[in-house]
Formats: sequence, C-alpha cells, structure tokens
Amino acid sequence: MPNRYLIANWKMNLPPEGIESFLGAMEDADVAVAPPCVYLNEVAASAPKNVLVGAQNCADQKSGAFTGEVSADMLRDCGARFVIVGHSERRNVYGESDALIARKLALVIDAGLMPVLCIGENQAQRDGGYATAFCSDQLRSSAVPQLANASEVVIAYEPVWAIGTGRNATGEMVAEIAAAIRDALGRFWPAALARRAPVLYGGSVTPDNVDDLLARGEIDGFLVGGASLDSKKFLALAGAMKTRFATT
Ligand code: PGA
Repeated sequence: MPNRYLIANWKMNLPPEGIESFLGAMEDADVAVAPPCVYLNEVAASAPKNVLVGAQNCADQKSGAFTGEVSADMLRDCGARFVIVGHSERRNVYGESDALIARKLALVIDAGLMPVLCIGENQAQRDGGYATAFCSDQLRSSAVPQLANASEVVIAYEPVWAIGTGRNATGEMVAEIAAAIRDALGRFWPAALARRAPVLYGGSVTPDNVDDLLARGEIDGFLVGGASLDSKKFLALAGAMKTRFATT
C-alpha cells in the first residue's frame, strides 16, 4: 500500500518550519499534502515528485456567480490531484449537508481528481450506539452516479469527537467501523470501486498511537491534522506505515 494514503490536512495553518523546509523533508516519503488552496501553486511547484498535492475543499458548483468559492476545475489548474470532501469541520462549522457534499463529490470526479470523502459520527451518535449506522447512511447519501466514472475514491473515517481533541479512536473501534464501511460501500457503491476504495482513519493521529491504529490491518492510511504540521512527526507516521505495510 503506498504511503500516499498518508494525507496532511494543514487546515487554515502552515507548518511553523515553513513550506519549503517541510516539503524538503518529504523527499523520500510517499505522502500527500493538502495546503490552504491559495498555496496550492507554490506547494505543487516545490513538492518532491513523490508528494501528491491536493485541496481541502471545493465549490458545489462548476462555475458562475458564487463569490468566494473555488471550483474543482480551478483547483486542478493550480496543481491539485485530490480534493478532501465533507470534512467534519465543513459539515459542522459551515453547515454542509449530505446533499451539498454529494454535489461536491460529483464535481471532483468530473474534474478528474481523486476525492477523499470524510465521514464519521459525533459523540452522541457513538454513545447512542449508532456510529456504524450513521457512517453507512453518509456513504449511502454520497452514492452519486458519477462514481461509475471514478478510478479511485478514498474514504476517511474521522469521528467528530476525535478530531483535534487528543482523543483518538482505539484500533478496535476503527476496525469495527472499517468493516461497516466496507459493507456499506459494497451495498451502495459500484462494486469495482467499492472493492478497491482505500479506507483511512483521521482524528488525533500521532506517532504515539499510530501502531495501535495500524495493528489490526483494517485501514489503509491516515488523514492527519495537528501532527501534519511538523515534518518530524509526519515522517514518523510515514515510517510506521512503511514498516507495517512492508510486513503484510
Ligand atoms: P487532527 O485532525 O489530526 O488534528 O485530529 C484530523 C483531521 O481533521 O483531518
């Protein structure tokens, strides 16, 4: 499994050490980086060849009078090869609905880019015992016709309660949801795409918990916020993945 399923989501931050220094440190690592979109050109131009560059969000419309929005086609023109869609901060802070996220997913596929679709339950849903049902529903509502044309769609399981909180899901919880995700993909998505969709975990991933998260072999990588702003921590995650996948 390539380490490009280790994705840095810088959110509205830049690495304190600077873009150039961060990217320079990635010279031998197959990773992916999603900077704030105004830095896409710069990151795409200076990233080593092995680093996949992508965007954190895109518009739900192709073009037109949508002040402040950036289309998937424009992101591609700036060097993006993938787009994160439906991150919980977009869903919860900016009120993005399943229907709006489905439109974005379709446009990312139409633009020829790889979508990284985020799903995940909140604390109340987990406490109520319906985390798996909620994640399955999110996948069902993202089953757009354009999936038939996609060569690859990455799923990122990111429980809302684990993002930026320092409380990661356990390897056991992740394994349980990953199985439910694969089951839902098989039911609602085109079969071939569902079979090869990588499933990532995100939410307070650090070099300290990465081995437990990888131990059960249910997930293919990580979407990382906080620990992706420090090249040493991010490289430590890349190293853990390399070791794990080299031995399976
Ligand atoms: P975190 O963020 O690693 O800081 O929890 C993950 C994400 O939001 O993608």
